[in-house]
Amino acid sequence: MTPTILDSEQLWKRCGRIYRIEKSSKIYNYSLIFATAIRNPIVKYAAYGLKRRVTVFKTWGDLFNPRQKLTLITFAEKVRQAHARMLEGGVEAEYAKAVVSYLGVTLNRLISAQSTLTRWRPDKQSMEDTFSRQALPMVWDFIEVNPVTNGYRSWNELFTDTEKIIPHLSQTNFSPATITQSSATALPHTDNFFDAVFTDPPYYDNVPYSYLSDFFYVWLKRTVGHLYPNLFATPLTPKSNEIVVYANKPGGKDEANKFFEDNLKKSFQEIHRVLKPSGIATIVYAHKSVSGWETLVNSLLDSGLIMTGAWPLRTEMGARLNARETASLASSIYIVARKMEREPTGFYNEVSDDLRRYLNEKLHRLWEEGIGGADFFIAAIGSAIEVFGRYEKVMDYEGEIIRADRLLSDVRRIATDYAVQQILHNGFSGEITDLTRFYVLYRWSYGAAKVQFDDAHKLAMSCNIDVAEEWGRSRGFIKKEKEFVRVFLTFGELK
Ligand SMILES: C[S@@+](CC[C@H](N)C(=O)[O-])C[C@H]1O[C@@H](n2cnc3c(N)ncnc32)[C@H](O)[C@@H]1O
Repeated sequence: MTPTILDSEQLWKRCGRIYRIEKSSKIYNYSLIFATAIRNPIVKYAAYGLKRRVTVFKTWGDLFNPRQKLTLITFAEKVRQAHARMLEGGVEAEYAKAVVSYLGVTLNRLISAQSTLTRWRPDKQSMEDTFSRQALPMVWDFIEVNPVTNGYRSWNELFTDTEKIIPHLSQTNFSPATITQSSATALPHTDNFFDAVFTDPPYYDNVPYSYLSDFFYVWLKRTVGHLYPNLFATPLTPKSNEIVVYANKPGGKDEANKFFEDNLKKSFQEIHRVLKPSGIATIVYAHKSVSGWETLVNSLLDSGLIMTGAWPLRTEMGARLNARETASLASSIYIVARKMEREPTGFYNEVSDDLRRYLNEKLHRLWEEGIGGADFFIAAIGSAIEVFGRYEKVMDYEGEIIRADRLLSDVRRIATDYAVQQILHNGFSGEITDLTRFYVLYRWSYGAAKVQFDDAHKLAMSCNIDVAEEWGRSRGFIKKEKEFVRVFLTFGELK
């Protein structure tokens, strides 16, 4: 027997949704159906995306049950037939190609709603698609919706969405748009070509984009791939140029990190090359890691682009799955960078004074705008680059070059001083111990979440403490959990 949801309009009106045990022979009669549970011990790897789970699912088809496969193959066939029928009926080839591309994209959304990795959201009383987050985690139970009604995640509903999106996306003064695809590290454009560049780069191993994209790619290739032979030439998405850390590749994590950092820098150098001298570049950063942020900032400095602004914008849904346990950023930082001549040398004492003055103004503004926690520190670092990024190099009076990481540690100190004063309402902030300072700042920045060692370490350094020393203490509140650090809230949790 299979637990089933009955969702008839009459019953809904009378008493909301009814749950009942249903015989599997009747399973097709209802609009929402729970299918059998998947029970597999490999669930412990769920959060890591598919790369750890190839032993469970050998092919992409394994993510669908026979009914879903039949459904999706039928829809996919219809999409291809629609194209052939349009051409037979005399529809212009480019128009038919555009229409069938939208149908192909709609089919992809249907696929995300029709797999064995969908989830039931008891709080919303509805289904979550396969990609409710950017991973393919194991689920215990999945839910199927009927794709041929007008209901939630049916073809009709999804296609109505597509129809609404088309006019929205078509609102541009530059028509037609030219779209090209290439690696960000080797753009097919001449120097000084663009007025503006907008980019949202990947972040270390946060999301295995290309592997996840294959979920859609294998279907798109079969529905519209023949219309875009260059884009669908390979059996799966190309992986070798992808700027993502895959530690399981030869060379391990160190090599993979280096690949990421080198190629991120190369991409920024490309932006610098293709941007007009008067051009503007906007770069998005949406992660809480201060060290990742520093990588980005250093890559930018090395590329020749000069950061002229950095502002946090609220772009993420607070309650999204990923944000609950890990240190996800509540906002994204939008960096504005330009291609300007830099001053050759700045002297540390002067740059330091400028930095303190500028930062205090900016920190005050961030505070007034309600930017809190890790977002505050990330935005502070962004603002600091606006000051020292103006110089090709910063040196002290002895001629020693001051590296960006030294300047960034000054910034962290100024920002933590400011934050502690504000959090404690200027009260006894001068009297608390360094450890208490760290505790207050950690809780304010990350709440109960665990964070990467490096971030905890940097926050601790700005409070004059060493996390690695602290987590060894028998009654300490700082604990190490593999590569993470967690700060406990109560003594009870420490037992
Ligand atoms: C943070 S995501 C961008 C998400 C996008 N803004 C959105 O809302 O869907 C980073 C993107 O960079 C892409 N990427 C990774 N390596 C790349 C490369 N060498 N060239 C161009 N894009 C790359 C990834 O595939 C991923 O789609």
